[in-house]
Amino acid sequence: MKKENIIEEYFEYRDKIGDRTGLYRMVAKKYSITSALYPGSHIDIAPSLVIPQVRYVDNFRGAIKFFTNIDKIKKHIDENSEYEEACDIAFIGQDYTGELNIAPVDLIISQFAGFVGQATKKYLKTGGILLCNDSHGDATLAKFDQDFAFIGVVGTHHRIINTKLNDYFVLPRNKEVDLTKVKEKMKGPTYALTAENYIFRKIR
Ligand SMILES: C[S@@+](CC[C@H](N)C(=O)[O-])C[C@H]1O[C@@H](n2cnc3c(N)ncnc32)[C@H](O)[C@@H]1O
Repeated sequence: MKKENIIEEYFEYRDKIGDRTGLYRMVAKKYSITSALYPGSHIDIAPSLVIPQVRYVDNFRGAIKFFTNIDKIKKHIDENSEYEEACDIAFIGQDYTGELNIAPVDLIISQFAGFVGQATKKYLKTGGILLCNDSHGDATLAKFDQDFAFIGVVGTHHRIINTKLNDYFVLPRNKEVDLTKVKEKMKGPTYALTAENYIFRKIR
């Protein structure tokens, strides 16, 4: 149900997906992130609580409508953010595979929204971070992409783990990962060891 109060609508969405503020906080702190791009964000505005400049992109009608209330969203973020300056939020209501008029960012967030890392890595600074899950196979594509180095996973209580990384993205009986199938099915393979989120650094 769409709410009169736009922030209530966000709270309802947050209840559904779980509060990711802790996840974004931990990643922002660890990698000194001050700017981010969130393609396929829907209305998950939690990054703005911990990252001063965030660009959200989504082409879903409901998300476009939500972000027409940008002043109310900014007011809520300014009242609750964990940094000193005023928030800098912009929403782009289009397909993220199209050209985006944005400056390179420190972080790209990819959550349940297709091959975000592949489509938007050109907007990530070299040395920047891709935070993604493997729900649609985006983490798998990053793992096998020479532009990215796999540097960590996010464990329980948002702890960033960077040990034993060779144990991830391994299929049972060491079967080879079929990237064509991942792209076709838009689904991450069932690995022997998984994490909710994976962290990559853009290295070139
Ligand atoms: C399952 S929702 C996930 C939303 C949010 N990332 C989250 O985790 O709560 C996927 C979102 O990605 C958006 N999306 C998927 N493909 C897109 C594309 N090519 N361009 C823009 N938005 C896209 C959809 O409109 C939808 O809002």
